[in-house]
Amino acid sequence: MDLKQLKKDAEIGISLIKNTSNLEKWRIKYLGRKSALSLFFNSLSKLSLKEKKEQGQKANAIRQLFSSLYKKKKNDLESNLSFSSNFIDITQPGEKIHQGHLHPLTSTLNDITNSFQKMGFSIIEGPEIETEYYNFDALNIPAGHPAREMWDTLWVKLEAKNEKSKMLLRTHTSPVQVRFMETNQPPFRIIVPGKCFRYEATDASHEIQFHQIEGLMVGENISLSNFKAIIEEVVKDIFKQKVLIRFRPSYFPFVAPGVEVDIKIKPKTKNQKSKINNEWLEIMGAGMVHPDLFKRAGYSTNRWQGFAFGLGIERIAMIKYHIDDIRLFFSPDVRFLEQF
Ligand code: FA5
Repeated sequence: MDLKQLKKDAEIGISLIKNTSNLEKWRIKYLGRKSALSLFFNSLSKLSLKEKKEQGQKANAIRQLFSSLYKKKKNDLESNLSFSSNFIDITQPGEKIHQGHLHPLTSTLNDITNSFQKMGFSIIEGPEIETEYYNFDALNIPAGHPAREMWDTLWVKLEAKNEKSKMLLRTHTSPVQVRFMETNQPPFRIIVPGKCFRYEATDASHEIQFHQIEGLMVGENISLSNFKAIIEEVVKDIFKQKVLIRFRPSYFPFVAPGVEVDIKIKPKTKNQKSKINNEWLEIMGAGMVHPDLFKRAGYSTNRWQGFAFGLGIERIAMIKYHIDDIRLFFSPDVRFLEQF
């Protein structure tokens, strides 16, 4: 028998094996009782002593080689078993599918807009790059007015198309009040969610980019009491728990009178205790629409009254999710986002 050829065939055969059932077939063929090698051993008895010894040693070496090839292949297949294409281990726990979720600011924004929509408010949008006219002048903030200094601005090198006005990143959503009133007649109630930008030093409650929801409700006999009732309802709806609300007199050139609204939430559990929940936090500026804005829109100031407000979304999200620092919202740390 050609032992060399047998060895070669066995080596090629085992190298092509990819599963345990084929390996078993290989074992039977090359190491089994009826294998060519076993038959060869049986035939040795017919040989002379010298030849028996010589051929026996060769055949033994081959048998040992086959055994070690077999053991190695068996080990390899067993360690790869879970990855082999024809093996499914149904006892393995399934692979977790990584699911994304909304940013806490997006869900807060959605909650607030839903709440207003339930009370009949329509959603309106306006440009983030705004003209100086709509951002300031049309809101009774002419050049040199101290309120401009408060809203120190990020100017953009763009020529405004229609107005002889410089362009800037809007500092609040209030310009959309003017834009809307230019083309719509009362009565109406709208909210305007969107980004705002301010050139200011950041701290735990101030960012250079943040979100506001502007609100504007105009009709006959609309008063600050209507505003108070609506805000109380919205705040209750968003936080689903008792929230303390405080109105403070304030000044904005486009409302008269003007107020600022602060809220404080009582923690439900000890875990909810964060610095932010024990303090009054200013969430919005508001007031009764200034008659100048109505006159510019061509509305009769005798017939129509209305209130307007600008609500800070980040501040609401901070209270809702017990976040002490506004800068975390736009930080690139996914550990922060994974908590929601
Ligand atoms: C305004 O922006 C006015 N346009 C609000 C207004 C609208 C008044 C309509 C009257 C009528 P103020 O600058 O206070 O006002 O901002 C309103 C809210 O936006 C603040 O209460 C706060 O919640 C949020 N806010 C203001 N600046 C920042 C900032 N840098 N970072 C995060 N939130 C801010």
